[in-house]
Amino acid sequence: MSWHVDSWKDKPHAQDVSYDDPNALASVVEKLKTLPPLVTSWEVERLKEHIAEAQVGKRFLLQGGDCAERLADCQPGIIANKLKILLQMSLVLIHASKKPVVRVGRLAGQYAKPRSSPTESKDGVVLPSYFGDIVNRPEFTAEGRRFDPRAMLDAYGHAAMTLNFVRSLAIGGFADMHHPEYWDLGFMARADLRDELRVEYKQTTEKLAEALRFMEAIGERAVEELTRVTFYTSHEGLNLHYESAQTRTVPRRAGNYLLTTHMPWIGERTRALDGAHVEFFRGVENVVGVKLGPKVDPEDAVRLLTTLNPTNEPGKLVAITRMGAANVERSLPPLVEAVRRAERRVLWVCDPMHGNGMTTASGLKTRNFDDILTEIERTFAVHARLGTIAGGVHLEMTGQDVTECIGGGLSEADLDKNYLSVCDPRLNYRQALEMALRLGSWMSDARKARL
Ligand code: PEP
Ligand code: CO
Repeated sequence: MSWHVDSWKDKPHAQDVSYDDPNALASVVEKLKTLPPLVTSWEVERLKEHIAEAQVGKRFLLQGGDCAERLADCQPGIIANKLKILLQMSLVLIHASKKPVVRVGRLAGQYAKPRSSPTESKDGVVLPSYFGDIVNRPEFTAEGRRFDPRAMLDAYGHAAMTLNFVRSLAIGGFADMHHPEYWDLGFMARADLRDELRVEYKQTTEKLAEALRFMEAIGERAVEELTRVTFYTSHEGLNLHYESAQTRTVPRRAGNYLLTTHMPWIGERTRALDGAHVEFFRGVENVVGVKLGPKVDPEDAVRLLTTLNPTNEPGKLVAITRMGAANVERSLPPLVEAVRRAERRVLWVCDPMHGNGMTTASGLKTRNFDDILTEIERTFAVHARLGTIAGGVHLEMTGQDVTECIGGGLSEADLDKNYLSVCDPRLNYRQALEMALRLGSWMSDARKARL
């Protein structure tokens, strides 16, 4: 069946938002088509090479950021802290696994949220749900919840400003591997990181910086490559008006590139084989992620992966499993086996966040640090047992000192102190770093066991 940039419009559209002014929508889409791309096809192809290497165990993917990025969070301190935590975690993982880590932020466009219900009611008032800043606003007012196509232009602008800052920081030496002390977050001294963790992290970074200086002293040329840090961006490709408007052909390469982000992913709620999202994403050249939850039928997953990557191109697909700690042992092995039997190439990545949600008695959404760790541990164990590669993790986290997940230093009573997420709860700085150190220690044990 032939694909074109708008062929998704003929398919059932899960999570669709109906804009009430088609003329305003059309003029926003036309404007987005004329604006420059946020990323380039060169970068997309480079990421694809990295993912292809990760698929065969030569790299590890660290993907993380907010559940719902806010336009108002486009501020230098907040953005820099997101990069710092990604950098710090990646250092720990590089040290433990002795592999390069591909850093992908949920950043510069993670503005669209799927919802379990299209409406929300409060005190007898029913309004549309909040679908992310690219669609409407969280305030529970008729005006706040109105679907406004112009929000797409705001989102594009804020993604561009965010990326501009990310790129300047990365080029300007902020991410220089020789100086991990530059990446300390302002509140690192204050964050109640356990002393052993603080020491472990400090020793890791010192050892890495020393190893770099040693390699440079003996004239190893590859160091240049090692010290240049790259960040890639990703977001859920939910709003197809926005994504398709920025999808285009480029000179000297075949195919269509979605240029709002390096790595879009299809969410658990929009991965229907005959749906609009799969139709759209089967036609783009980008690396594409697909979330796979505990209810997935393994044969459907194989059909989905085949539809999205009929030529079985290396580096093209990332299968992000989010089973929930309690379901991993039951739901993951049949999926992994079916995909292996069908010889579909994917990078297996564990999202330990979305299957482990819970609500406190006072109605706050939270997740338990231990469940998150357990899901990673069980997922890695399944891959080790089946001989497949656990190639990455996908986390909701922030460089801010928030109180959204319990465990790892926070109790339920702490949640009120600094709960900022407008969607799912994120790991805070301490929890994220602790997660990396725990994951790192498994990776280094696994590596030593193979020696
Ligand atoms: C998300 O990543 O924020 C999300 C909604 O995930 P999922 O599609 O896996 O539920
Ligand atoms: Co989320």
